[in-house]
Amino acid sequence: MSSTNGTILEVKNLKQYFPIHAGFFQRVVANVKAVDGVSFSLQAGEVLGLVGESGCGKTTTGRSILRLYDPTDGEVWYHKTNGERVDVTKLSQEEMKPLRREMRMIFQDPFSSLNPRMTVRDLIGEPLVIHHVARGKELDERVGELMSSVGLNPSFMRRYPHEFSGGQRQRIGLARTLSLNPRLIVADEPVSALDVSVQAQVINLLQELQRDLGLTLLFIAHDLSVVEHICDRIAVMYVGKLVEVAESEELLRNPKHPYTEALVSAVPPADPDIQMQRIILEGDVPSPVNPPAGCVFHPRCRYAKDICKQEEPQLIEIKPGHHVSCHLAAELDLTGIVES
Ligand SMILES: Nc1ncnc2c1ncn2[C@@H]1O[C@H](COP(=O)(O)OP(=O)(O)O)[C@@H](O)[C@H]1O
Ligand SMILES: [Mg+2]
Repeated sequence: MSSTNGTILEVKNLKQYFPIHAGFFQRVVANVKAVDGVSFSLQAGEVLGLVGESGCGKTTTGRSILRLYDPTDGEVWYHKTNGERVDVTKLSQEEMKPLRREMRMIFQDPFSSLNPRMTVRDLIGEPLVIHHVARGKELDERVGELMSSVGLNPSFMRRYPHEFSGGQRQRIGLARTLSLNPRLIVADEPVSALDVSVQAQVINLLQELQRDLGLTLLFIAHDLSVVEHICDRIAVMYVGKLVEVAESEELLRNPKHPYTEALVSAVPPADPDIQMQRIILEGDVPSPVNPPAGCVFHPRCRYAKDICKQEEPQLIEIKPGHHVSCHLAAELDLTGIVES
């Protein structure tokens, strides 16, 4: 577990809707409710996993927090080192500028996120130049240090991204992200485009850097097996909403939401002799344009009752630090990870 000291970010009822336009007058005919009332907080130095199927709103949540979008509604309070608290959703782009050094994103795809015409030196050094932190020889030195810190040989500084493997490119992206000494990083599925054989190396590196530098990390992934070892806490997302948030061990051993139970059942057990019954969810993920009434998960939930079709459950704390939004949380006896 990482050591924590105080809150760094509070997200309150965050909503990010994307309008759909149609017809001659391009009227707004509907909204994609990509993020629909998400609340959580991050402690300084902690790693929070954000997990859910493709399309559930994870990337949009990350981008809205960093103000790469203008959120439709809600608040995102960032706690600065001087103790001051600012709602980033209310800041102008000019006021955001200094915060962009402190809050940064690592992108999913190390192939398309690096400009192929820039050398590694320019890619890693660019944020330092933009923010007037270093130039010339000093820049070379800093880039060299950053390359070493992510396990790349600084003598490759003049090479281009295509000369590197996927894992190395993600290291370049990581060095670029770290160049301005950020406090908070949103890592958006940083290993899902990589070969399984290099995924663990990149995750281990990220974990080492997170610990050494005391970083706060929002780690986005589409399955639990990637995040279970690196995260202090895990938040499970489904169609724009958080359905469960708890400490990693607690969430894996003692899931309280039927959707989490299904995700947990897909995690390969550490002991290959253990037979896990994988829960296959029936049907498709509903559209965020027209989410189901009641509990968004009810059409695919094998435990659903009438109340689940009618009333929307709220995310409530059922025991210290364990939040779940399910009408049946108290009565269901769900299966977590089986210990050997
Ligand atoms: N810029 C956008 N305009 C319109 N719809 C979007 C946009 N970005 C994402 N979406 C939609 O919002 C939903 C959530 O997307 P996303 O946040 O990318 O999910 P995830 O990262 O969990 O796969 C999806 O239905 C997606 O199609
Ligand atoms: Mg995504």
